[in-house]
Amino acid sequence: MSEGHTDGEQAGSGTAGTPRLTVFRGDITRCQVDAIVTAANEALAGGGGVDGAVHAAAGPRLLEASRAIGHCPTGGAVITPAFGLPSRWVIHAVGPIWRGGRAGEPEQLAATYRSILARADEVGAVSIAVPAISTGVYGFPPEPAARIAVTTLSETPTMVGEITLVAFDPLTADLYRRLLQPDQ
Ligand code: APR
Repeated sequence: MSEGHTDGEQAGSGTAGTPRLTVFRGDITRCQVDAIVTAANEALAGGGGVDGAVHAAAGPRLLEASRAIGHCPTGGAVITPAFGLPSRWVIHAVGPIWRGGRAGEPEQLAATYRSILARADEVGAVSIAVPAISTGVYGFPPEPAARIAVTTLSETPTMVGEITLVAFDPLTADLYRRLLQPDQ
């Protein structure tokens, strides 16, 4: 995580590259990045979990802005200003509800992470912080979810240079760290 824009090499080059992934354990609303991501529902109606924390920190205008957009399909993401948060934008990403794993949930979760990068690229956000989408209320098992997050975010071409994987619990932080440093 960094203040403002990241080192200019990837951000200024004008070509899509490979972002640097780091792990932060804690509250995503404290991340000083261009855009923070929240785990939203299709109605963009606000909720508990990370969405509750993001809306509480951003203030009521965030709910007005997401209600004005009104809907986002599973696998998609929309972007709004961040209002009271230290970041410039909030990306509202809709992950799948876990239904046992054979209803396309892994593909939908990968699509959600690709949509996050697409929204960031549209506004020129070069540093983003991303929670473990779908692993709370939506029940996606943490291990495959972490694997999909790391694989998709590191393999999708993007102008984003710095991605902070935010883990709220020690298990998720450990999963991310093992995936990023497979030899340890
Ligand atoms: N910062 C970072 N991560 C957080 C925070 C926080 N402040 N609070 C919770 N988390 C973590 C959870 O521990 C979990 O690992 O975010 C992850 C996603 O959990 P949820 O917020 O429950 O999101 P999800 O499983 O995608 O369910 C989305 O929940 O709140 C509603 O409106 C939301 O209906 C939608 C659904």
